[in-house]
Amino acid sequence: MNYRHAFHAGNFGDCMKHALLVWLLRALQRKPAGLFVLDTHAGAGRYDLSAGPAERTGEWRAGIGRLLDEPPAALADYVSLVRDCGLYPGSPMLIEAMLRPQDRLTCCELHPEDHATLRATMAGGETSVPQTSVHRRDAWEALGGLLPPPGGLRRALVLIDPPYEATDEFSSLAAGLARGHARFPTGVFAAWYPIKHRAPVRAFRVAMRDSGLRDIVTAELWLREPLDAARLNGCGLLVVNPPFGFMAAAEPILAALLARLGTGEAGQGFAVERIADE
Ligand SMILES: C[S@@+](CC[C@H](N)C(=O)[O-])C[C@H]1O[C@@H](n2cnc3c(N)ncnc32)[C@H](O)[C@@H]1O
Repeated sequence: MNYRHAFHAGNFGDCMKHALLVWLLRALQRKPAGLFVLDTHAGAGRYDLSAGPAERTGEWRAGIGRLLDEPPAALADYVSLVRDCGLYPGSPMLIEAMLRPQDRLTCCELHPEDHATLRATMAGGETSVPQTSVHRRDAWEALGGLLPPPGGLRRALVLIDPPYEATDEFSSLAAGLARGHARFPTGVFAAWYPIKHRAPVRAFRVAMRDSGLRDIVTAELWLREPLDAARLNGCGLLVVNPPFGFMAAAEPILAALLARLGTGEAGQGFAVERIADE
């Protein structure tokens, strides 16, 4: 496990994932019933962008660094949560900041140092709320073991955000989605993926379309043509069972991200597409 999210925190991939995550969570919280949120690849929780790995790569400057001042309306909720956090919040901190008393959050992180940091920060740590728990547990196993939701909760949002270090991560993702969905078919599953080269993404989309799962939407953002396998040229979020209004809401979010983060390079753009019917 060489991937450390601290090097990439706050980059455009994080901004896209986190802005859509905030919308998904708010949409699910329109109903008063409690919600179980499972963050399968949680990372370290929050990141100091002014020091260490994030400062060294500076990726955040072309991401959250361009959104903080006068954010567009579609990104205002997300940026306000980031500002409130102080440090750049990873997915666990963003989710935790939005939890209501009736909601529960479970985070899984396998890397020993990031798990320790996450645990020190959240479960029993300084920002701890009683509804949060942190596990050092394999994400793919957790998708079977931690669903359906505990404690009688009947609704779930599952964020799956692998590091894509392994060459077969798209296959693991497709299998993990199938496993989680089999355990809890009404859950909302949101899986982030990188767009470097076109071929792996196209194969993943075909695999998901043919998976037998229904009601699948993808939101994708490209900064340039996805022709260089060594570069993060774009990213996507695949959502199974999206809440009502997701497609209509994702478009202005992606448009606002592109307007601020776009490089003007050939091939930049975004798309929100349904790849499997309800
Ligand atoms: C992209 S980062 C997560 C970032 C986080 N979701 C966020 O948005 O702030 C992926 C994380 O997954 C962890 N990881 C990798 N393989 C895992 C596995 N099989 N189970 C649980 N965590 C894993 C890595 O250590 C890394 O911290």
